[in-house]
Amino acid sequence: MDKRFRRLTIDDYNDMLRVWAVAGLPIKPNGRDSRSMIETEIGRDHCAFLGVFDSDRMVGVTIAQYDGRRGWICRLAVDPDFRGLGLAQDLIQKGEEFLAQYGEVVVCALIEELNMPSMDLFEKAGFRCENEIKYWTRRPRADL
Ligand SMILES: CC(C)(COP(=O)(O)OP(=O)(O)OC[C@H]1O[C@@H](n2cnc3c(N)ncnc32)[C@H](O)[C@@H]1OP(=O)(O)O)[C@@H](O)C(=O)NCCC(=O)NCCS
Repeated sequence: MDKRFRRLTIDDYNDMLRVWAVAGLPIKPNGRDSRSMIETEIGRDHCAFLGVFDSDRMVGVTIAQYDGRRGWICRLAVDPDFRGLGLAQDLIQKGEEFLAQYGEVVVCALIEELNMPSMDLFEKAGFRCENEIKYWTRRPRADL
């Protein structure tokens, strides 16, 4: 493949949603994944939407974000036709390179309990599971 990485802009919105969809990630089109919310998020300094392309075709994506205390790798997805090529590992590395500008930050990822490929991936990338922590949220709206 003709592998290329770059920062994404709002012009990549449709391709990004396509990759998330074919990868099987849930999408909230009326909430955090709406065009307007993504447009706001993608423009923030502490946030990098990163894509990997085969020539012009987007085949993987992730979001790296610094929240002022920790770094996050979110919404990582690779098109099923391009799995097993190390692209997710590459995207994690690109995300960590972006986060390194904030110093020695703890880098985190939220992974669903039964998502073994993702857990294996992050373990291979040097992450460790903090089993004693549960994810708690308060949602202003259910579809956010
Ligand atoms: C998880 C996902 C991003 C991996 O993408 P990928 O590009 O195929 O992963 P890589 O090729 O970089 O794999 C690197 C390592 O991850 C682990 N891994 C990846 N896919 C795996 C699988 N199906 N089963 C077990 N381990 C797997 C392996 O340790 C692998 O190293 P190896 O190839 O030497 O065995 C991809 O399967 C995906 O998009 N899944 C759906 C979306 C998702 O779950 N995202 C994560 C949200 S936290």
